[in-house]
Amino acid sequence: MNVLGLKIANHDTGAALIAHGRVVAVSEERLNRVKHSFNMFPTLAIDYCLAELGLTPAELDLIVIDQTGVREEAPMKEIFARETGARFAGVRVEVINHHDAHAASAFFASPFSESAVLVYDGSGERFLTQEGVVVETETLYQGRDNTLTELQKVRHLRDGRRATIGIGKVYSLLSSSYLGFGNYNEGKMMGLAPFGDLSLLQKIPEHRWWKEVDGEIVCNAQIFPAWRIPLIGGALAALWHRARLGSSVFAPIILPRPARNGEQLPDTYYASVARTAQHVLEAVAVALGLKLKALTGSDNLAIAGGIGLNIDANKNFLDKAGFKRLFVQPGSSDSGVPLGCALWGYHVLLKQPRFWEMKHAYLGRAYSTLEVEAALDAFKDKVRWRRSATIAKDAAALLADGKVGAWFQGGSEYGPRALGHRSIIADARRPDMADTLNYRVKHREAWRPFATSMLKDKLSEWFDLAHESPYMLLAAQALPGVAAQVPSVIHVDNTSRIQTVTKEDNGRYFELIDEFYKLTGVPIILNTSFNLGGEPIVESPQDALRTFTSTDMDYLVLEEYVVEKL
Ligand SMILES: [Fe+2]
Repeated sequence: MNVLGLKIANHDTGAALIAHGRVVAVSEERLNRVKHSFNMFPTLAIDYCLAELGLTPAELDLIVIDQTGVREEAPMKEIFARETGARFAGVRVEVINHHDAHAASAFFASPFSESAVLVYDGSGERFLTQEGVVVETETLYQGRDNTLTELQKVRHLRDGRRATIGIGKVYSLLSSSYLGFGNYNEGKMMGLAPFGDLSLLQKIPEHRWWKEVDGEIVCNAQIFPAWRIPLIGGALAALWHRARLGSSVFAPIILPRPARNGEQLPDTYYASVARTAQHVLEAVAVALGLKLKALTGSDNLAIAGGIGLNIDANKNFLDKAGFKRLFVQPGSSDSGVPLGCALWGYHVLLKQPRFWEMKHAYLGRAYSTLEVEAALDAFKDKVRWRRSATIAKDAAALLADGKVGAWFQGGSEYGPRALGHRSIIADARRPDMADTLNYRVKHREAWRPFATSMLKDKLSEWFDLAHESPYMLLAAQALPGVAAQVPSVIHVDNTSRIQTVTKEDNGRYFELIDEFYKLTGVPIILNTSFNLGGEPIVESPQDALRTFTSTDMDYLVLEEYVVEKL
């Protein structure tokens, strides 16, 4: 059975294909080089997947698309037919619920045959009801073998009875509008949070932000910044909101200062807003986790939806909600929806048994030596290169020498994290390395932290974390003395975002860190995504060379080649 999963509208369009027992997936942004590819039909991603598995459109048994927006207003089958013409004529096309796609992307990729499943995001499918548009934001499921059963879907009504929103929307609104980070940059607010305190909760206590109503966990939809005249502007906004949307189960929250306007960060007040948002998000995560635990009795939890990328929230499911094993799909954001569509089609619609466990995130296609050499040739005016039979060892030596480089191997990572196939790597022992990378290479805010890639069997010696973290989706406290040894990957709150690396699942990336360990006694390197700020992560050797030659990096490891600038 050959199933193509697609996200064709809104942000993060892409494709995933299941065929011949294999799974290949890619986001359109990696191919067309437009970050998030808003409403861009994933033509390149479809071709990429079909070519990689050697399929023609006629050989597909099923195409599955998720619904974004309101079905009546955005009919996905019509959009698909309009964009593809006769190319897929005769192939069955099904449209599924957005959260069902997220749930499938988590559970059917997980190692679990039975599991609780949590989907939470900013907003999923919208439903037209008699009371107006209802938005799905949190859905709880139980997965068993090749089935998923919905247990509860929290739907936020914008009516007079209960004007509420989901925690994802609270978080993203504070991040994008109030703190001014813009869309898709919730990670910036998460990074800012540890610089703040929780004093805001003394003025605006937790129950004003979220509560359980009719068995559903809901958040306050009425959060307003003070306008030029503190309080009065916010109060006027609250009155306007009431007049337009009616009353709520919450009193309005008026934040004491206007939205941030270019102030240098970390500013104590704005950092405390970030910290408060993070605190509320984690409290809601625990409440959702406890609810799921009570409903399913399961020790396993699979997560997808954009909030799954919140590394600080994820640990709460293990520490405070009683789950023993956690699988967070690396494409938890909508970038993972195509995979969920394909898996839902394969298991739920076609009733096929489970056949696959996501052991790593490298779902992109690999590039051949011929392709790599052709790309190098095209850049011969700018770079020189040499082939190495000991590439991991060579790169480890460059790392230990303080050089900043990029590392390109095999198929690209699915989801927004670089996990050692399209990564910029550096020596975490150097106290100035974070600043060097922020200023010289990534051109991003100085206060943002960098992540750890480390040998999994050394985890307990360095961090207070008992659970593996193969997709860099858990944060952990550094053990005493660790911050002094690897200062560039330890954040201001003594935590780090961890990727645990194994020989079985990470191949040459494991070898690289292992060689670095043999050289230095430190089983940790700094890993950040191989892209320029604002650009998608590189996909092809050409992308890698273009990015490398336009940044201040010392070297590029491109498969078996060490590349340097002329
Ligand atoms: Fe989503």
